[in-house]
Amino acid sequence: MTPAVVESDWHFPYSSILPSSPAATPELHLLACQTFLPESLRNSITSQRSGRMVSGAIALAFLPLLLTLIIRYRHYFVLFYRAVLVRIVKDCLTGLSREERAFQYVLTHATPGDADSILDTFDQWCSKVEFISNIGPKKGKVLDRILTENCPLNVLELGAHCGYSTVRMARLLAIGARIYSVEMDEHNAVVAEKIVRLAGFDDDTVELIVRPSDEVIPRLREDFGVERLDFVFMDHWKRCYLPDLQLLEGSGLLGEGTVILADNVIFPGAPNFLRHVKKSGLYEYRVHRATLEYIRGIRDGMAELTYLGVK
Ligand SMILES: C[S@@+](CC[C@H](N)C(=O)[O-])C[C@H]1O[C@@H](n2cnc3c(N)ncnc32)[C@H](O)[C@@H]1O
Repeated sequence: MTPAVVESDWHFPYSSILPSSPAATPELHLLACQTFLPESLRNSITSQRSGRMVSGAIALAFLPLLLTLIIRYRHYFVLFYRAVLVRIVKDCLTGLSREERAFQYVLTHATPGDADSILDTFDQWCSKVEFISNIGPKKGKVLDRILTENCPLNVLELGAHCGYSTVRMARLLAIGARIYSVEMDEHNAVVAEKIVRLAGFDDDTVELIVRPSDEVIPRLREDFGVERLDFVFMDHWKRCYLPDLQLLEGSGLLGEGTVILADNVIFPGAPNFLRHVKKSGLYEYRVHRATLEYIRGIRDGMAELTYLGVK
């Protein structure tokens, strides 16, 4: 017999006999049950009631745990909401990609030819409207400082996305210096190209290469005439950090003093990459602690490596 039948059954006999409402007098309700219902049904009701009480108690016991988890991981929920849910909804509503929406905002709010205005506008959009994993203003300042200190001539960027970090670096380069910026996603590369040109940088300063990094690195010398890299900024998929670093080591393009800056080594993290850096003895390194771009409360860091040269 299903619970619904049981409940409708046990109102009938005594509600016609007793004038008061069963809901208002639970004792009478119970008494009536005991009086009118067969024993098997009474047992079934009692076991269902105690079953419900046990599940209620279990749910109550888990409530503090659930609350603790929600509070502890709230920043990750915010990240998921902003980076995934908002994106899906807006993709459906606008018919544009998130990168195209960002570009439209920058185009209509920033001053063309002014790299800082373009970066500031991007930062506004990413902090208030939608999330894009640009390096952002805080870690961006670390990048600015390390790049300025090293004054590189040949820069390799792995992962341009919308061109935010490309513009960030290009604005600080000395005359004659060049960035080879690698982006494998064609749609992202179209946006990156538009952002870089909007900021006023031409082909001589920024060469955008639309191919995967593991195809580009071995051909940098042949296809682009690069003899030595002075600065490498790694900000592509984290699983590519280690294989690409090893490709760079084997390419002969790293020289003594070449600086490699790798973003997000704590979140999402690149443990194999860090392990290799520590064990290989090829680098002096340090990790700059920071928080994830545009989201408070998620710890992240950038690894700065200085290549010591072949021993
Ligand atoms: C985190 S975003 C880069 C953000 C950018 N550096 C900035 O701060 O503005 C990562 C980008 O790397 C690209 N990417 C990932 N793996 C790649 C690879 N193996 N080769 C080239 N591009 C890659 C992705 O398509 C994505 O656009």
